[in-house]
Amino acid sequence: MAEVKAGLQDVVIANSDICSIDGERGKLLYRGYDIHDLAEHSTFEEVVYLLWHGRLPNRAELDDLEKQFAGNRRVLPEVIDLLKRLPPAQHPMETLRTMVSALSLYDPESEDMSAEANRRKALRLTAQMGTIVAAYGRVREGKEPVAPDPKLGHAANFLYMLEGKQPNPADARWFDIALILHADHSFNASTFAARVTASTLSDLHSAITSAIGTLKGPLHGGANEQVMKMLLEIGTEERVESHVHELLAQHKKVMGFGHRVYHTEDPRATVLRKMSEALGRQTGQLKWFEMSKKIEDLMIREKKINANVDFYSASAYYVLDIPTDLYPLVFAVSRISGWSAHVLEQYANNKLIRPLAEYTGPTGLKYIPIAER
Ligand code: COA
Repeated sequence: MAEVKAGLQDVVIANSDICSIDGERGKLLYRGYDIHDLAEHSTFEEVVYLLWHGRLPNRAELDDLEKQFAGNRRVLPEVIDLLKRLPPAQHPMETLRTMVSALSLYDPESEDMSAEANRRKALRLTAQMGTIVAAYGRVREGKEPVAPDPKLGHAANFLYMLEGKQPNPADARWFDIALILHADHSFNASTFAARVTASTLSDLHSAITSAIGTLKGPLHGGANEQVMKMLLEIGTEERVESHVHELLAQHKKVMGFGHRVYHTEDPRATVLRKMSEALGRQTGQLKWFEMSKKIEDLMIREKKINANVDFYSASAYYVLDIPTDLYPLVFAVSRISGWSAHVLEQYANNKLIRPLAEYTGPTGLKYIPIAER
């Protein structure tokens, strides 16, 4: 019998130059650069360039990418029309998954598999993901979508399109940092799904649609929304202990904790904790950070399980006025950059991803006619 590695745990399935994680030391590098260095000094646009090209851009290259983003954020009126005509979703990720899939029908190069066309599609999708999410956030509230502002950076523009007013620079910078932190994470479930789809030489939109469907699950990108639901349900700091104890007594997972790869603090959580506290202070809503900190201390004390990327992003997004059920979509607004870097890498050195299963069902059965069953 072959050894089965459930959940592909610890299985290395390919070489990749994009992202490395040291789960023991809590290190995350994009193309060799420490995530903390990037979060402190770079912008989301610089990180996108880094992920796609393997090096940081010079001034002219960054200006060019920013210009390309600004020029490609607007979606066709037909796309907004379609968005308005979709039935109400039970979860907004259904709408995002459908809209990204639909975007391929409007993309003149959807079936062009040349490296140049794939790069252009990656750029358009990355530019437009935020436009779709922000437009959806407004349309479902009966408001008109806000057109992108080409003068704004990617993070500020998203908040602007969602809320319909210019964000203050401090909020925009924190959100920019959140986008940087979520941009890539090696062969996580959604990226792997994208690469599996790309490995069949299916198109980029199909690969990203697979990724969105995978991100949707509560064990992956859906966790940040569940964290905020939990904080709202708990309601006050005094109720934290009893609520978390009850979850643990029932052997339920506390969302936003634990990680397949990190056995220490998720380095993204270190930055997001600061973000949650700073934004909480700035908006006079420190309560959500304080409750989160109490949950974290309790989880470390009692279970030795650390917070992951989804834990403090929840309270940070809440005070940025991002609707709770859009959190996984905001994850996608950033992660599209990493997904597309991985799809491009897969295409560049493709091998069909096709693992095996150890069959454990019956054998040798003989067909019985239906009347005799
Ligand atoms: N709350 C409580 N217990 C947790 C936990 C959590 N969030 N995460 C892991 N554990 C416990 C499990 O109950 C299990 O305990 P056991 O061995 O006594 O049964 C042990 O830790 C290992 O967990 P397991 O789910 O088998 O690990 P995994 O590597 O398969 O899963 C996650 C990793 C991320 C899926 C898991 O930690 C989880 O479900 N976390 C909550 C969802 C979440 O925040 N996801 C976002 C990830 S970035």
